[in-house]
Amino acid sequence: MKTLTVHPAAQLQGRCRLPGDKSISHRALLFNAIAEGEARVSNFLPGEDCQATLGCLRDLGVRVEQEDATTLTIHGAGLRGLRAPSAALNCIRSGTTMRLLMGLLAGQTFDSTLTGDEQLLRRPMERVAAPLRQLGARMETTSGRAPVRIQGSPLTSGRVEIPVASAQIKSALLLAGLYAQAPVTVGEPGPSRNHSELMLHAMGARVETDTDSRQVTIQPAARLNALSIQVPGDISSAAFLLAAAILTPQSQIKLLDVGVNPTRTGLPDMLHKMGAQISIEDTRVQGGEAVANIYARTSKLKAIQVSGETVVRMIDEFPIFAVLATQAHGTTVVRDAAELRVKETDRIATTAAELNRLGADVTPTPDGFIINGPTPLRGGEADSHGDHRLAMALAVAGLATSEPLTVKNTQCIGDSFPGFENLLRGLGAVCD
Ligand code: S3P
Repeated sequence: MKTLTVHPAAQLQGRCRLPGDKSISHRALLFNAIAEGEARVSNFLPGEDCQATLGCLRDLGVRVEQEDATTLTIHGAGLRGLRAPSAALNCIRSGTTMRLLMGLLAGQTFDSTLTGDEQLLRRPMERVAAPLRQLGARMETTSGRAPVRIQGSPLTSGRVEIPVASAQIKSALLLAGLYAQAPVTVGEPGPSRNHSELMLHAMGARVETDTDSRQVTIQPAARLNALSIQVPGDISSAAFLLAAAILTPQSQIKLLDVGVNPTRTGLPDMLHKMGAQISIEDTRVQGGEAVANIYARTSKLKAIQVSGETVVRMIDEFPIFAVLATQAHGTTVVRDAAELRVKETDRIATTAAELNRLGADVTPTPDGFIINGPTPLRGGEADSHGDHRLAMALAVAGLATSEPLTVKNTQCIGDSFPGFENLLRGLGAVCD
């Protein structure tokens, strides 16, 4: 079992680039796989989750050449060019891989099965299967979870309401919509990340978002055009380094070329509200996505309340947000975040338990947390529960503890942020 020991830090300084955005890396692979032509993708995230997507696509007959870990050329097979896989497709621990593939494979002319490792087999898949069935998809989950057995079939059209604001469910339906007989409209209770819409549009698909009525419509496509892109740095990975700089004395860091799509910037917005010294500068558009440099320095934080649409805009950031809240003055309250219970772990339960073990005052609630701060944090031991984002959040907490903190089970960090430890060290942290 891998562990990461982090020592209390005196100062963090420097600048760095982050690995590519996980959501955009998955989509660059999946969408280019069914496009016409060749696409070169650089700053691709070489994390385990995106490797899972790559592996599944290869099993579906897609040719992908790898120049180096982060540069790929995808030879598009076209919308009708995927091949029946000879065995179940292994999505490893990646929910995005499985859910987007459910949409993509629903309308194929062959059958397929999606599976994954123990962690993924615990996560809900009926939330994707049920709306897809409304379009005529034929698929069976296993007591609501994976393995998922898909019988490729012709898809109809129509309007589908999804029960939770989820980019994964929405994207599955949009992919299915490419293969439907007429337009598919997806209605969502709130706005989720829109990387699929932006990328599919850039590839020539007819996809329209109506923000007022909270719906996206996609027209069936005859083809998609291959799209070469440079993947922006992942703001969900940036979050850990921003938090590290904010919590460490005399620190100042600059993160270059980070994706700042407004559907993803809930954490920086909340950090502003907490009084953190953080700024987003030099915003530009790169391959249809907003990219900027982000600066952060040591800050005194005050408690805030987070609820509603902001929750979706920072859904992956709650483990690190909770660490920040333990050091904020006052009572922080998070509501409307019940989705955290079905992430890689039940992040409400695991985050609260691990932070309380370090001396924090975190009360889990059915849909969030109540966190009283600031509380001094002790070192010792903490456990990631195999959850990459909890592992990194705890490692950052270790910078603010009184003694070294050993985080157990840290191999999962590679699911989304390979090189995390080295980047932290490059900024001046001591970890081994
Ligand atoms: C993702 C959507 C979010 C997020 C996940 C990546 C995506 O999940 O938590 O890490 O790439 O579409 P939900 O769609 O379940 O909210």
